[in-house]
Amino acid sequence: MIEAFRRLYGSADGLRVFRAPGRVNLIGEHTDYNFGFVLPVALDLATFVATAPSADGKLRFHSEQREETRAFDVAHLAGLTPAHHWSDYPIGVAREVARLGFAIQPANILIRSTVPEGSGLSSSAALEVSSALAFLSGREVAPLELAKLCQRAEREFVGMPCGIMDQYISVFGREHSAVEIDCRSLEHRLVKLPDRVAFVAVNTMVKHALAGSAYKDRVAECAAAVSAIQQKFPAAASLRDVTSSQLESVASLMPALVARRARHVVMEDERVGQFVAASARGDLAAMGELLVASHRSLQHDYEVSCEELDFLVDQALSIDGVYGSRMTGGGFGGCTVTMLRPDAAEAFANRIARSYEQRFQVTPRLYRCNPSAGAQQCASFETIPTAG
Ligand code: GLA
Repeated sequence: MIEAFRRLYGSADGLRVFRAPGRVNLIGEHTDYNFGFVLPVALDLATFVATAPSADGKLRFHSEQREETRAFDVAHLAGLTPAHHWSDYPIGVAREVARLGFAIQPANILIRSTVPEGSGLSSSAALEVSSALAFLSGREVAPLELAKLCQRAEREFVGMPCGIMDQYISVFGREHSAVEIDCRSLEHRLVKLPDRVAFVAVNTMVKHALAGSAYKDRVAECAAAVSAIQQKFPAAASLRDVTSSQLESVASLMPALVARRARHVVMEDERVGQFVAASARGDLAAMGELLVASHRSLQHDYEVSCEELDFLVDQALSIDGVYGSRMTGGGFGGCTVTMLRPDAAEAFANRIARSYEQRFQVTPRLYRCNPSAGAQQCASFETIPTAG
């Protein structure tokens, strides 16, 4: 990356490199913006942002994946409006960093990522968090503030009303652990997964156009459910506060579709706790069943799955050594996550790839989900000796 930086910008003096991971969510889908529970792991797929001071007053970004450079006057950051372009993510973050009182310094920036875009593995949060660290360049912000400022950038500048999960896990990820996040208190605890299982993400390689607008619809449908529920339970501030029996008693006060959306969220929250408990007692079969129940609920009640995801889940469940499988992330494409016996992983990879290719004429990509550390600075150089 140092060499690439120097080729691009001439000098790499003062270079710092920051890394922030993508994630796979094991269970607790579409619960975060309802202030419920989620259980993601940070991946060893990550975004790296290399930054060095520039002398011309500009913030210049180069994305290796997009093979594209964008430059902005630091002095004009506050006046920028979203361009519906990948640069909205780092720009939105730079504005939030500035709003916290940290002046944005002119810089040349190189972005490299191994998180596949549009895969539901949270390439956006990885870009946001690694960019935020680069803009801060060593100036300290509490980890939770870092996650929150990145979420604000995505909600307010990019225009996606996301929850906190992706930014939070990118900051707080831990090696060898899943992280159970309470999206209301914003506290977490580490969850050690049983040794005898592996998690594999399978990428459908599709992202349906519906994803963004459907996400906003679901956020609105959940808000409509809360308003209806408040007629009988005024203290319910979000779906997090509602039990399944309470929901049943007010289901007739809302349209059937809204009731189904709410049922997904309320039961999914319960499944997160059940999954963590099953994991603690090493009940692999129960963990697998909860993953499948989560998928069916996302497929039928929340309706954020798609043909490709359903196919991958159904195929996975027919393969030896698989405990459970579900879509992960926002939906409408992206990845499934499958829990299986580690010694079954190779045969699983071959079989699932073959059947997906036969059905969709597309080769899916597979990623082993190794729980990894959260965002960090990887390197810092005053000057860099020339290569050789
Ligand atoms: C996207 C959002 C997250 C979360 C998931 C669904 O990844 O960014 O905040 O809502 O969808 O669980």
